[in-house]
Amino acid sequence: MSNVQTRPDLATLPSYVPGRSVPGAIKLASNEVTGGPLPSVARAIAEAAADVHRYPDMGCGELTTRLSAKLDEPAEHIAVGCGSVSLCQQLIQAMCGPADDVLFAWRSFEAYPIVTQVVGAQQIRVPLTEHHALDLDEMAAAVTPATKLIFVCTPNNPTGTLIRKAELTRFLDAVPENVLVVLDEAYWEFVDDEDAPDGLQITRERDNVAMLRTFSKAYGLAGLRIGYAVAPEHVTAALRKVYVPFSVNHLAQAAAIASLDAEEELFERVDVIKNERGRVRDELVAMGYDVPETQANFVWLPLGERTAAFNEHCMANKVIVRAFAGDGARVTVSTPEENDMFLAAARSFS
Ligand SMILES: Cc1ncc(COP(=O)(O)O)c(C=O)c1O
Repeated sequence: MSNVQTRPDLATLPSYVPGRSVPGAIKLASNEVTGGPLPSVARAIAEAAADVHRYPDMGCGELTTRLSAKLDEPAEHIAVGCGSVSLCQQLIQAMCGPADDVLFAWRSFEAYPIVTQVVGAQQIRVPLTEHHALDLDEMAAAVTPATKLIFVCTPNNPTGTLIRKAELTRFLDAVPENVLVVLDEAYWEFVDDEDAPDGLQITRERDNVAMLRTFSKAYGLAGLRIGYAVAPEHVTAALRKVYVPFSVNHLAQAAAIASLDAEEELFERVDVIKNERGRVRDELVAMGYDVPETQANFVWLPLGERTAAFNEHCMANKVIVRAFAGDGARVTVSTPEENDMFLAAARSFS
């Protein structure tokens, strides 16, 4: 028996549950895009592989320059991270200690409680509305002097619901300026609602707002782990301080640059998904399911206690969904063929 002591609170730390991969079944559990890398991106990755005996560019200079031009934002306002989940953790590390609260809606992205607890900060969860959306008024009301950071996930994972401009403005006006509001826009590229707030613009207007985006979803690079934050300079400087050196690898940087070059082609896939999500939702609603309107690349089925049975039924039909026991199932919108397989499974569930 070892005498080495791990932190006592690790026993209560929930584990991140990754979407399952099962041979022969289609995976609609992780909000990935289905097609593999475009030939141009695959080529860039292969070329970059010749240099993996060297450490990567720790400052992600070339990619930051590209993002800076694309977003029309000074490079100092951009921090690249090993996936946006890593940036979530870095933000808390940079901002919070054990006496500080991190506030977020629940249910929302399952990493928020984990990264909060890893850092030793306290979590405050504010329930979603009955329509499965973030309750920004209640979130603003839950702010106390201990609140240091608020995650606002829009569209919300796993419910897909979007925050509109006016409600976000009202919320930001209500939040004290010494609280950092993190707009997690992992699914930004799938949004087509004209009333969606633009996190980038808001980071320009407010000193206490950071925005997170990722190459994992619309850009199809989930396996390479790369995302970025845009924030005022004092926040990006803090992010860099707690960055694990070299954690954004060379292949990821090369692939992200190639993906920006191939944006037009990649966004054709995004358009297919946007069309499909309307069809998938409409068909589910016609079958009698309650499905909130979604602006992401997934749908949410708030099945409550029936979630586990639904999950097993889908699995038996070779479709892997992401089930949150007792709450609901999140299902990625994919190609028409894969969506049809899921819809057939949903139709035969009773
Ligand atoms: C809302 C949200 N934020 C952040 C992430 C993390 O993405 P990544 O770390 O792959 O960039 C995810 C991934 O599922 C997500 O759903």
